[in-house]
Amino acid sequence: MDLQLKDKVALITGSTKGIGRAIAETLADEGCHVGICARNQAEVDETITALTAKGVKACGSVVDVTDAASLETWINHCADTLGGIDIFVPNVSAGGADNSESGWRANFEADMLATWRGVELTQPHLAKSGQGAIVIISTTAAVEAFAGPSPYGAIKAGLLNYSSNLSQSLAASGIRVNAVSPGPIYFEGGAWEQIKTHMADFYNATVANIPMGRMGTNYEVADTVAFLVSPRSAFTTGANVIVDGGFTKRVQF
Ligand SMILES: NC(=O)c1ccc[n+]([C@@H]2O[C@H](COP(=O)([O-])OP(=O)(O)OC[C@H]3O[C@@H](n4cnc5c(N)ncnc54)[C@H](OP(=O)(O)O)[C@@H]3O)[C@@H](O)[C@H]2O)c1
Repeated sequence: MDLQLKDKVALITGSTKGIGRAIAETLADEGCHVGICARNQAEVDETITALTAKGVKACGSVVDVTDAASLETWINHCADTLGGIDIFVPNVSAGGADNSESGWRANFEADMLATWRGVELTQPHLAKSGQGAIVIISTTAAVEAFAGPSPYGAIKAGLLNYSSNLSQSLAASGIRVNAVSPGPIYFEGGAWEQIKTHMADFYNATVANIPMGRMGTNYEVADTVAFLVSPRSAFTTGANVIVDGGFTKRVQF
């Protein structure tokens, strides 16, 4: 299937590693020009070099998405350099399970507020596109109890509510909004590698709870995102697509 993504412009936050990096690479493989960001200059540079080698335009800079001015500068720079914005994927999370006041603030700032800001700032560009698409990265921890009370799942659940309402209000501007909620995703250098090393029992119990018998990969999540942002998903908006190998047990309807 041709996803019809050639020459579209996609901005992905938190895109030097893990799921964000896989989304940037996958969209570049489909012919998108990509704007990336993260907080480490050397890794931003390395990612731009790797993406450019795929034959597309790539740009990016050091950005902490919780810094409003820096986020705005990055979005404007990418739009100028790449020629507009068709696709926006807010992917950054403060992660973790820090059920303290500072933990709640961190997840609110990085997951919720930065996503809202990014949507506000990219919206005029996405509307001009005529085929604008947003995919918000949530988590299965938003839709089921998992590992105790924490801001991570709660704030990500808030993002699902925001995503759904946003899809209603932006449809008339030709912008589709969907969410992707990954289950446990294993990749080198990722959180689950750490958990496997330091909390082997928890890691093994989690895998045992996945009917497919393994964790997912960041590229499997990226493929789902690529389909949802593509014109081949033209009539899909307001969805939350779970990518978890059957980890969550609820009936989706
Ligand atoms: N991994 C999983 O199992 C899993 C499961 C469900 C959902 N998710 C969701 O998927 C998304 C990506 O997770 P991941 O596991 O791929 O994360 P990751 O491996 O920690 O990668 C996060 C990326 O974002 C960058 N980043 C982190 N904080 C940032 C900030 N404040 N500003 C700008 N860039 C920042 C990181 O680079 P720097 O640190 O250099 O900035 C890195 O490029 C998150 O929303 C997460 O909640 C992950």
